[in-house]
Amino acid sequence: MKERATPLSGRLRLLSTALLVLLLSACAADAPQDVLRPEGPISRTQDRLWDITFFVAVVVFVIVEGALVYALIRYRRRPGREAADFHGNTRVEVVLTVVPALILAALAVPTVKTIFDLSARPTGDVLEVTVTGHQFWWRYEYPQFKVTTANELHIPVGRPIYITIKGADVIHSFWVPRLGGKQDVVPGRINYLTLRADKPGAYMGQCTEFCGLSHANMRLRVIAHTEQDFRDWVAEQQLPAAPAQGDLEVQGEKLFLEGQCVNCHAVLGTEAAGQSGPDLTHFASRQTFAGAMFVNNAENLAAWIRDPSAVKPGAQMPDYGHTDAEIRALVAYLMTLK
Ligand code: CUA
Repeated sequence: MKERATPLSGRLRLLSTALLVLLLSACAADAPQDVLRPEGPISRTQDRLWDITFFVAVVVFVIVEGALVYALIRYRRRPGREAADFHGNTRVEVVLTVVPALILAALAVPTVKTIFDLSARPTGDVLEVTVTGHQFWWRYEYPQFKVTTANELHIPVGRPIYITIKGADVIHSFWVPRLGGKQDVVPGRINYLTLRADKPGAYMGQCTEFCGLSHANMRLRVIAHTEQDFRDWVAEQQLPAAPAQGDLEVQGEKLFLEGQCVNCHAVLGTEAAGQSGPDLTHFASRQTFAGAMFVNNAENLAAWIRDPSAVKPGAQMPDYGHTDAEIRALVAYLMTLK
């Protein structure tokens, strides 16, 4: 008996350790994507629906499991008594069918109402943005302002942002938990999502549909500004890039415009007009790059240009075999694109 008991208790210990680790992982203090801290009316509406559903589910769980445990103990086999053994009970079965049906019908009322409310096109002072999901980054277009940017979505606070969602390659999912909603990005189909932020700040987001090697690295940020700061940001983004100054910067610009970069990237004010990669007109004004994966600084940028897929698995940008001197010049040029 002893020989048998040991591996079983070992397995039990392993299982309970794994469960404990899973449980404790929910206690992370720094959880910028925490859905339990909504920061806008859309996410608050969703959070309220979740609270109602969760409360009902907890009550049902306690009653059902309580009855089960009670029956297991009360009617178990004991010395001098057989375990209770019976099949079917029409009255109990009718009750157990009707009661859950009523609970689900009641829950459907706030659920359906919330779904319709949130999917309606918002009214009032709406800002429209088109989001396109690419492997493994996000393109943002502001048709009202003729501005195109990537990965960091700038919005004004207190206004509904109506997002048109498109896909360029495979299925992705656009998700900014603290501002509201999650919407699939499906090539050949157009989806819509409304976001709204209460106060200025940076809100983290993430692609939530497995889309390839760097799915986990397909992050995004929403940067919410006051109305005035947002207008200033738009005005800056509308300007074309200034011509490079300085020897290294000019050399980098030449490499950029005469090399392969222009096949995929656009820089307003130059001949670069590629559309399959991020628009780089104001690249240096972004805090992060490559799907908001890297902090935007010279060191990270050099590593990225040297061999993109070495630092981000599955990255679509090829390694063009640039020399260190060329990389220094390209980085110097890109850093002028404020
Ligand atoms: Cu895009 Cu996962």
